[in-house]
Amino acid sequence: MASIDYESKIPNNVDLSSDRRLKRALEHWLPNYIDWWKEMGPTEFNDKEVFLRTAVSVDSEGWAQFGHVKMPDYRWGIFLAEPEKNRKIGFGDHAGEDAWQQVPGEYRNWLRRIIVTQADTEPASVEQQRLLAHTAPSLYDMRNLFQVNVEEGRHLWAMVYLLQTYFGKDGREEAEELLDRRSGNPDHPRILGTFNEPIKSWLDYFCFTMFTDRDGKFQLLSLAESGFDPLARTCRFMLTEEAHHMFVGQTGLGRVIQRCAEIMKQHPDDDPRTHGVMDLPMIQKYISFWSSSSNDLYGAEISSNSANFFGSSLKGRAWEMKNYEEHSALEQTKEVTVWEDGKLVTEQVPLRNAMNEVLREDYIDDNQKGINYWNNILDKNGIEFRLRLPHRRFNRNIGSFAVSHFDIDGNPLSAEEWEKRKDEWLPDDSDRAYVTSLMSQCTEPGKFANWIAPPPKGINSQSLDFDYVRL
Ligand SMILES: [Fe+2]
Ligand SMILES: [Fe+2]
Repeated sequence: MASIDYESKIPNNVDLSSDRRLKRALEHWLPNYIDWWKEMGPTEFNDKEVFLRTAVSVDSEGWAQFGHVKMPDYRWGIFLAEPEKNRKIGFGDHAGEDAWQQVPGEYRNWLRRIIVTQADTEPASVEQQRLLAHTAPSLYDMRNLFQVNVEEGRHLWAMVYLLQTYFGKDGREEAEELLDRRSGNPDHPRILGTFNEPIKSWLDYFCFTMFTDRDGKFQLLSLAESGFDPLARTCRFMLTEEAHHMFVGQTGLGRVIQRCAEIMKQHPDDDPRTHGVMDLPMIQKYISFWSSSSNDLYGAEISSNSANFFGSSLKGRAWEMKNYEEHSALEQTKEVTVWEDGKLVTEQVPLRNAMNEVLREDYIDDNQKGINYWNNILDKNGIEFRLRLPHRRFNRNIGSFAVSHFDIDGNPLSAEEWEKRKDEWLPDDSDRAYVTSLMSQCTEPGKFANWIAPPPKGINSQSLDFDYVRL
């Protein structure tokens, strides 16, 4: 095939033009990626111009350039955060050694698994979100959806760059596999459960970007500490983009809540559904579903993998160097509650084996800030209802609590009681049908669907009636 002008097509700071082997690998992968995007991305919008930010370098000038672009022409750059001079490994058994610039042979398989697991979530989320633009509540929201989509695509590029550069033939095979698995496909699913859940509505979408992209934030934070320097630098740059994804979720749901609160104020005696908005108890159910599903992404409470990944200096804690003084995590324990022989048991676990739980706790604390933000909106509107996070034992499919059932406060339930009561806490068919009934596309510039309040301001200082997507 004709050679590709990498400098213009793939903005990068990894000296792509001088790496012939990598160029060849990308030459092979790029057309397959574009085919995947055209098949599994937001298919019917590929010829529309979208007001997107593109990273063309990692400095403050270059990382967010705005302009109208057709999505397949988006410049999927490969960027690593600037290297830290003489960086040393900060934690685990290799603390104090020089950070690795090549894959350490003894950890090759673990490292590949870590990268592939992260990489797989990126195309998965694009697949999960591919039909949402058809019911976008405004051009502003549609544009934000597409921004998230192209950046998840770029995150896939970032991970594929690592696989192709550092893992030889295995890495190239993994890169192909990443384009073959499909979210929700029973025969060939994506690796992690949450990334096979359908995102059927914008309420699901806002919950996903709030809770599941936030899992991404914490995974990236822990990998940003990695002793394998190219991975650390890649993740540091990805985190700058991730912030926008969570903004979409937190403020998106905030606007849904704001709209509901307005209706409740105007019509205190009416069921908000009679006015065509989402009601708070149902919003709570969606929060409970997506936050509990995302809790699973951290893995089992007690885990030998987590001990291996930390001990081998591949995956640290979030803000490892900033928040902790002791970085070996040896000779320390953590109190962990698990479900054993039909009862709750609290154990002292070697800290390395409890790293999944450490990361999950940081994540849950961060989620709580979002809940507080939403409750503040209710408070300002004089509404007494309060949203909450479910207990971490609620609705789990991974870890020790997966074998039993727990209510929203974490109290054990029999299978029978769970079946009887689960619709109190999780969206049921009638909730989903109601949400679906509200979903219809609103494309007049500056207009918003009835069920969502407008945002306080537009993107990159543009007005709300700006043509964020040229349909
Ligand atoms: Fe991502
Ligand atoms: Fe994301």
